Amino acid sequence: MKKFYIRTFGCQMNVYDSRLVREILLSSGFVEVQNPEDADIVLSNTCSVRQKAEERGVKFLRDMKKLGKITVMLGCVAQQHGGEEVIEGVDLAFGTRSYRLIPHALQSLLNGSLLEERIMARDFGLLELTDAPLKRKATGISEFINIMQGCDNFCSYCIVPYTRGREVSRPAEHIIKEAKNLEKQGVVEITLLGQNVNSYFDGRFQFYELLQFLDRETNFLRIRFTTSHPRDLTYSVLRTIAESKSITDWIHLPLQAGSTKILKMMRRGYTKDEYIEITKNIRKVLPEATITTDIMVGFPGETEADFEETIDVVRTVKFDHAFTFIYSPRPGTAAARLKDDVTPEEKGKRLRVLIEEVNKAAHEKRVQMIGKFYEFLVEGHSRKDSSLSAGRNRGFIKGVILGNYPVGTYLLGKVIDVRGLAPIVKPIKVIDHFELFENATVSV
Ligand code: SAH
Ligand code: SF4
Ligand code: F3S
Repeated sequence: MKKFYIRTFGCQMNVYDSRLVREILLSSGFVEVQNPEDADIVLSNTCSVRQKAEERGVKFLRDMKKLGKITVMLGCVAQQHGGEEVIEGVDLAFGTRSYRLIPHALQSLLNGSLLEERIMARDFGLLELTDAPLKRKATGISEFINIMQGCDNFCSYCIVPYTRGREVSRPAEHIIKEAKNLEKQGVVEITLLGQNVNSYFDGRFQFYELLQFLDRETNFLRIRFTTSHPRDLTYSVLRTIAESKSITDWIHLPLQAGSTKILKMMRRGYTKDEYIEITKNIRKVLPEATITTDIMVGFPGETEADFEETIDVVRTVKFDHAFTFIYSPRPGTAAARLKDDVTPEEKGKRLRVLIEEVNKAAHEKRVQMIGKFYEFLVEGHSRKDSSLSAGRNRGFIKGVILGNYPVGTYLLGKVIDVRGLAPIVKPIKVIDHFELFENATVSV
């Protein structure tokens, strides 16, 4: 029996896809191993959102090829580059919607009868049609569920519409079935995934209706979703969260840039003021909402004044957390035709300033949590101190829990009440949703 190892780069979509691929391979008789060195077949689920991400996924496969492994490339780089030079050293590559072809192609490769191409199905015709999502085994107490594929937004800097194809929503019934199957296995939290979940529409249900449906039909402790495009987040979604039993008030709302001029060049479809207005509306309906974001610096034509506008939004909105990036031109995107005219030094400087501002705002938000009570879902133990439990509040704020609980045993997947104690400050890094909590009453 052939052994496989799969490594995942990039976003949660890839994490989800890797779980399906694992399921597909296991049900075809392959065996999973935990170390690449022990595997016959090594799969890399790649990301091409920025150049560095792309390089990491490709380098991993090249290293594995040197060790004599059968190498398989999945994900966005495989989709984007196909048979071009980047795939050198790769035995098989699969486009992002062709994973059900993997076992057959692998078998053919193993028994020397591979007649088809090495590079499989890069047209988007082959929508995933396996029943892997409905059969898959849960790997923990919290799981992702992909509710849609692709993206139609074509933000000018972004490769995703080219690597994931046009937007297609999965039928709500499938999603509910997948959710129920996970619930039966002890999963207590699900996160619904899509590049733009707010534009979900399966022909019958809109996103807020899917949320209502899931909230009604399942008994998860928490239902989360990401990503929300600011242009498409609706009042109905916010109301649904407010009225639901399990949908949490965490909104990931990528800003990208604060300057309306840059936002227009990015084709984001909102202005600086509109973005700020949306965050105010979120807080009107959901006063305790956690708002997180993605921000980029150094987009072509971004002046110091434009960058200041980004800082101004960070100060105004006070995000709980932000993922921060340096703009990276991606081949084939509209922005790649613009001159990448912000110097690397300037980009680096802006990133540092941005992180500092994000941290200031996040820290302020954490300080406001001191002494307040929160419902905490225990997800495991602290990475730094394995004698302490760690988890998140409803708003997705991570924390370490002080208290004499046996870790990872009966508390895992349970909700306890905790009181905010003190923020942990990590000076150079963006505060990673991090907070110390002490336990108050236990409600397990
Ligand atoms: N669908 C989501 C996220 C897609 S990619 C959304 O619309 O927000 C995740 C993040 O990567 C983006 O939010 C963006 O901040 C960043 N990103 C995308 N393309 C990039 C590029 N070319 N250079 C740098 N960062 C990029
Ligand atoms: Fe990329 Fe924009 Fe689509 Fe997000 S919404 S995946 S940034 S094109
Ligand atoms: Fe990367 Fe593809 Fe996700 S480019 S961010 S893995 S959709």
